[in-house]
Amino acid sequence: MPTSNIEAISDMYDARSASYDSSNNSLHIRQTKTYLSHLTPYLHPGASLLDLACGTGLLTLPAKSLVGAQGRVVGIDVSKGMLDIARQKSQEQGIDIEWYEHDVSDLTPLNLGSTGGFDVITCASALILLPSPSTAVRNWTQVLKPGGRVMTDVQLPTANIVMEIFASIGPGVGQTLKWDMTLFRTQDSLCKVFEDAGLEVEQVWESEAYGSKEVDVEDAERIFGKALQNPMFADFGTEGVRDRALVEFTRRLKELGGAEGQLREETRFWMCIGRKLS
Ligand SMILES: C[S@@+](CC[C@H](N)C(=O)[O-])C[C@H]1O[C@@H](n2cnc3c(N)ncnc32)[C@H](O)[C@@H]1O
Repeated sequence: MPTSNIEAISDMYDARSASYDSSNNSLHIRQTKTYLSHLTPYLHPGASLLDLACGTGLLTLPAKSLVGAQGRVVGIDVSKGMLDIARQKSQEQGIDIEWYEHDVSDLTPLNLGSTGGFDVITCASALILLPSPSTAVRNWTQVLKPGGRVMTDVQLPTANIVMEIFASIGPGVGQTLKWDMTLFRTQDSLCKVFEDAGLEVEQVWESEAYGSKEVDVEDAERIFGKALQNPMFADFGTEGVRDRALVEFTRRLKELGGAEGQLREETRFWMCIGRKLS
């Protein structure tokens, strides 16, 4: 049994690591490509990138070809399973990246700023997983060069109906998700994290829909069963929880489906790039 939230998250991603790259119709491959397309102007030859919660290296690895041999790329993640895959890919492809297994909420022990700081810091599809995103981003700015950029994202509340339902029924069935869904309900709440960290918001936008689907409330039991196969929600399938969770899941889905009994889900993110002024 995990003894802390960070250990629970790390276990969850260890379990997802083998199938991560192809999961959700390769959503994360496409999302990290979006990152790189917006960051290309700053990832010039010789530049430095710190990729936080780097996972299997989907952003980290291609970034190295932009900054070249003189550039520096560092990837940090708390999940050994995710990092093992990233390390294996970098070895196979002969790409020189510094990997660290560490909690990105506090980078101090890694002493990363000693070489003058980074031009770019990224945290793709992971901000919501941190216990205090505001504190974390503020800490990150300490290893960012003046004029450097931070880019991160959060999912729209409407982007994952199943996750929203588990978050809302969790307390009633004695389970909680390992992250707080209530922190980012608006695009402004993402901007505020940047502003509180002393970063100037340079660009903020809603992403394209990476996928969409119609959800029929009559399918509740099948949707619930499929969700339990995902390590993110597996705890809702444990003995003594499953039956009550299914009842609550079905009730909430019907409520959201309203008179039509149908919902549309679109996988979209709010994306933000901020700049450190001094
Ligand atoms: C959805 S994945 C994103 C991975 C990668 N950034 C990408 O876009 O493909 C979330 C990652 O955040 C990592 N993570 C979550 N909390 C973390 C923390 N406190 N410190 C370091 N990594 C963390 C997980 O281990 C996982 O690899």
